[in-house]
Amino acid sequence: MAMVCLNDFEKYAKEHLSKTAWDYYSAGADECCTRDDNVLAYKRIRLRPRVLRDVSESDTRTTVQGTEISFPVGISPTGLHCLAWHEGETATARAAEAFNTCYITSTYSTSSVEEIVAAAPNGYRWFQIYVFQDRKFSEQIVRRVEALGYKAIVLTADVPYFGNRRNFILNQFKLPPHLQLKIFNGLHQKQENAVPEKYHTSDPSITWKDVHWLQSITSLPIIIKGILTKEDAELAVEHGVQGIIVSNHGGRQLDGTLATIDALSEIVGAVKGRIEVYLDGGIRTGSDILKALALGAKCVFIGRPVLWGLAYKGEEGVREVLQILKNEFRLAMTLSGCRNVAEINRNLIQFSKL
Ligand code: FNR
Ligand code: LAC
Repeated sequence: MAMVCLNDFEKYAKEHLSKTAWDYYSAGADECCTRDDNVLAYKRIRLRPRVLRDVSESDTRTTVQGTEISFPVGISPTGLHCLAWHEGETATARAAEAFNTCYITSTYSTSSVEEIVAAAPNGYRWFQIYVFQDRKFSEQIVRRVEALGYKAIVLTADVPYFGNRRNFILNQFKLPPHLQLKIFNGLHQKQENAVPEKYHTSDPSITWKDVHWLQSITSLPIIIKGILTKEDAELAVEHGVQGIIVSNHGGRQLDGTLATIDALSEIVGAVKGRIEVYLDGGIRTGSDILKALALGAKCVFIGRPVLWGLAYKGEEGVREVLQILKNEFRLAMTLSGCRNVAEINRNLIQFSKL
């Protein structure tokens, strides 16, 4: 099967994954309007390419939090990679390392953080956490990933409760018995609320005070994932975090929000360059990446496409997904007259279609 674009990987995954895995990965909340609009919104945006600008040489590198990555696409945290491929997150980590890009490891990983680091010792990684009711439990996770060389903590802020994913209700989704959420192994597990079998999420009572708590226990940069408004972006800056990820959790939480690309501009406008703004949701092509950067994202992240790559061929499949996106991005960048990411700006976007 020739894999030419990310849609081919989606098709492959749908045909080859178990129903449980496909339903878990593809799920969106309620009517899936936001999940689908994340993708469609890019198709409504038109570009204004410039020509005759000598694009014989091009450079896709950028930096996030001061660290160089080979192109402006990182890997969003998604859970349960072992559902797609037996090596789970270790395969993802190796692909990210090979591409010298940022891999945000999910709390709900089915490989342990130690296994991930051993598989890709030179990888650049951030760790995504939830704040559990027992703060000691979250603190232990932070200590453990700090010691392993993770370079930032990503606090997911949009899951006080899980969104209403209808196919989970239909299938009564449960982790298959041979898989484990390994971050929970070996940690003090006093509180029932973090019991992985219950697929528990964060403490729904958390506020910006808990961001301060996080800052008090770690000196790593803190990045808030799940910001969709200028009001919360402003608060993130005021509370001293180092970055935000504009995200609606791939449309799995509140259905009916803006597509992330449509929410980006007001947030970039409010942040005014004080911290880095990233985005995830619906990135499927190189021109999607170009549009997000033109509207002010420093870097974008991909969720489901990585799972499709894993389902196809493990590490190799994820590499292929990243390679296609990198090729497409380089081409879109140069066809629009940009030699490097610094030359991508708002002038590339057609604001009025008339
Ligand atoms: C997610 N997402 C997610 N986010 C997070 O902070 N922690 C997590 O454990 C997970 N788990 C997860 C599992 C699956 C199967 C999906 C599809 C998503 C959300 C994820 O980080 C990201 O925001 C979206 O996936 C981005 O949208 P795309 O690229 O999937 O369209
Ligand atoms: C999800 C959780 C793991 O979206 O964030 O399934």
